[in-house]
Amino acid sequence: MNIVIMGPPGVGKGTQSHWIVEDRKIVHISTGDILRGAIRRGTELGKKVQVVMNAGDLVGDDLMMELIRDRLSQDDVVDGWLLDGFPRTAFQAAEFAKLLKELDQGIDKILVIRAPADEIVRRLAGRITCRVCNEVMNLTGLGNVTPTYCPFCGNSKDEERAKAALYQRADDTEETIRHRLEVFRKKTLPAAWTLEEHFPLAEIDGLGTVDEVAHRIADVLE
Ligand code: AP5
Repeated sequence: MNIVIMGPPGVGKGTQSHWIVEDRKIVHISTGDILRGAIRRGTELGKKVQVVMNAGDLVGDDLMMELIRDRLSQDDVVDGWLLDGFPRTAFQAAEFAKLLKELDQGIDKILVIRAPADEIVRRLAGRITCRVCNEVMNLTGLGNVTPTYCPFCGNSKDEERAKAALYQRADDTEETIRHRLEVFRKKTLPAAWTLEEHFPLAEIDGLGTVDEVAHRIADVLE
């Protein structure tokens, strides 16, 4: 099964992607994670995209198309994939439709998760990620206190290491979040409607608990 998951920043795309890929035994391809990994490793790609990403702007279309073409040509995608964070512009969507035709692939479902801006700002202001296991969590679910260890990995034994490992993303300040929301509205929503001309799309209400949203998605994927 091939799935594209779209929606504004912080709506829960990454959170929902985790159970979907496990359930469907498909590969999770997050363009944001790929780019952040490149920044962390200090590669040429990372150096090119760091400033743009921290400002909440979009990385160039040509670079993203090259990245996706390369990723979808790798062997591990044969049983299916879930794309999270791509396409982000109408140009990417149109080029992606052409690329899929060329690769003789399709999209079984495009999921567009929606939630109001204030809820998104609230979620992202509280998001923390573990550098060691990459798990994403939220301070509201942790009593609004940054934990002294990562609840998800072996990082719990060493307090100093744990503190250094739990971080807030550079693009999760309120000003940048609001800018990213604007970028989503102007550039990424048109990408969804462009893709819908070729493949089936379902809109998902992103309000409610993680489980409630997961049930809505499961119903649509059945
Ligand atoms: P990317 O990494 O894709 O970021 P994003 O789209 O802004 O989305 P996020 O990862 O911020 O949020 P999410 O929806 O995954 O939410 P999460 O599950 O973490 O892209 C980052 C940047 O990379 C872009 O700005 C751009 O510069 C560049 N880029 C990437 N792809 C590109 C492309 N194709 N073209 C050009 N540039 C590109 O959840 C958020 C928080 O909410 C968490 O704390 C979570 O625990 C919590 N939460 C989740 N669900 C719920 C719920 N139901 N109730 C309460 N809390 C919840």
